[in-house]
Amino acid sequence: MNTEATLAPSNLHSPRPGVAPGVRFFDAHPTPDDLRAEVLAGLSSMPKRLSPKLLYDERGSQLFDAITELPEYYPTRTEIGILCDHGEEMADLLGRGRVLLELGSGSSLKIRILLAALEPEIYIPIDISREHLRASAESLAEHFPALAIHATCADYSVPFELPIEGDREGLAAFFPGSSIGNFEPEEARALLGRVAKLIGVGGRLLVGIDLQKDRATLERAYDDDRGVTSAFILNVLERLNRELMADFDLKAFVHRSFYNDALGRIEVHLEALSEQRVQVAGEQFVLAAGERIHVENSYKYDIAGFHQLAAGAGFVPERVWTDPHRLFSVHCLRVEAC
Ligand code: AVI
Repeated sequence: MNTEATLAPSNLHSPRPGVAPGVRFFDAHPTPDDLRAEVLAGLSSMPKRLSPKLLYDERGSQLFDAITELPEYYPTRTEIGILCDHGEEMADLLGRGRVLLELGSGSSLKIRILLAALEPEIYIPIDISREHLRASAESLAEHFPALAIHATCADYSVPFELPIEGDREGLAAFFPGSSIGNFEPEEARALLGRVAKLIGVGGRLLVGIDLQKDRATLERAYDDDRGVTSAFILNVLERLNRELMADFDLKAFVHRSFYNDALGRIEVHLEALSEQRVQVAGEQFVLAAGERIHVENSYKYDIAGFHQLAAGAGFVPERVWTDPHRLFSVHCLRVEAC
């Protein structure tokens, strides 16, 4: 993902009216021009690429939610099990009554396990999928009527501002789902460095990290029998057809996922079944038969490797929890320097 561009948070501090009591909505969603520029650059590169964040339009977010319930996709249920088993201890370490931000909050389901114990002053869910964020914030407000929710629609892969006043230190952050694995390790380090600055020295981050494991388990998780993952990945082309006047023939592409052992990551691609000539935002792109568009990586870490990455961003590890099969890990990290 591109970490260079700075998002202009033009209306970040102007909450939108008309949402449920307790919820304020701050919109710094990337503009159509940002989308166009990023897609055209990606399709002009060799090999062709599309950013994984493009997967999360409204339908993409719903399809991702469906993935999290698949028998093959172990990360979500395993992480939820760890949060349920150790929630009180996690809340003790994170600190109660603080400002709590969540990166990639999606449906805000996992945070519900911790909210009663954390009793945050303000909860700031941050997500790129605007309608999904709004619906999740409103549903959360129904269940936690006393909670102040500052829902923030932003692309957290680039710098953004928090919708709170004044200098604050020692905030709490939650970054579940191993979403950090969708960034190149160097980008992940830079993102963690920005999170460290947002939460300040003494701030604590609870982050979910998927662990290295056997190839078969990994490859099954990214190529399920019901084809939900395929629909999720192909949906990116449908989005480009709709939002960038593209004319991808969805039947002419298939989704390919595999584990790249040397790089320790699952790779997800879209492969053209025959030669394709495609218009996107007024420009033509040619794909040869068999040519792939690289859509997503999902890096898997071991615990020591992840701690090394986090140390490079100013974090010290305080505690790590795993499940009995060591499929997944949840880490509490403290900002030592930023
Ligand atoms: C959001 N992210 C952590 C998921 C993953 O496992 O990398 C996205 C995903 N892509 C295909 N299946 C799930």
